[in-house]
Amino acid sequence: MSVSIKTPEEIAAMRVACALAAQVLDYITPFVKAGVTTAELDKLCHDYQINILGVIPATLNYAPPGHTPYPASVCISLNHVVCHGIPGARKLRNGDILNIDVTVIKDGFHGDSSRMYCVGKPTILAKRLIDVTYRAMWHGIRVVRTGARLGDIGHAIQTYVEAQGFSVVREFCGHGIGRGFHEDPQVLHYGRAGSGLKLEAGMIFTIEPMINTGRPQLRMLADGWTVVTADHSLSAQWEHTVLVTQDGVEVLTVSENTPLPPEE
Ligand code: MF3
Ligand code: CO
Ligand code: CO
Repeated sequence: MSVSIKTPEEIAAMRVACALAAQVLDYITPFVKAGVTTAELDKLCHDYQINILGVIPATLNYAPPGHTPYPASVCISLNHVVCHGIPGARKLRNGDILNIDVTVIKDGFHGDSSRMYCVGKPTILAKRLIDVTYRAMWHGIRVVRTGARLGDIGHAIQTYVEAQGFSVVREFCGHGIGRGFHEDPQVLHYGRAGSGLKLEAGMIFTIEPMINTGRPQLRMLADGWTVVTADHSLSAQWEHTVLVTQDGVEVLTVSENTPLPPEE
């Protein structure tokens, strides 16, 4: 595993790319309403990325080893879809919850962020899942600083989530990011405090916990991308890209309407 320490120039470029990813999430917010299809949301995000922001949608035709090219400019994961949902003809309905995950490339650098959205009024369980997942991401972010360990992040997330009665997805994790979409290290959302890589100022990675109301086990759909909960329980995810600093952390995927950090 080789984890790069970004130079000041690289950090500056990452701030720009990450802010642009967050701007896509701001932009799409008012369009997330009953009746719209997820393909229509993808098209809006695609056009906004290319024509307004001047960025490349990193997910479009993204083809890691063993995968067919991903066919859309954002991932949209509805209800029991855990991640990598493919936008399509499905119309949003009142009560749906969804994750929109945006990764842009600007001047060769990747910015990666996702948020949860609700259509109309969510159930009490869905609302609690979204809230717990958001707080879980922030529990992870808040332990980041020079000298902390990767396992501290996973441990903070896992202990909080399991105390709330929900489960942490194991098969997918956060990742280093920069010129590469998925760089080292792997940032697990579970683990043991004090274990793993020691964090150093200048590292940039994502924290993106996927949390299920039911069991953690997953299934992959026949399209080779869409990941669902095996028990069809609800799943939620939030994602920020963060920079390790000398005395803490800088969240890079921020924009005008980024949700505020939760109270401690
Ligand atoms: N944005 C996702 C992540 O957070 C990766 C999506 S890959 C895709 O790492 F191919 F599904 F788009
Ligand atoms: Co990511
Ligand atoms: Co992402």
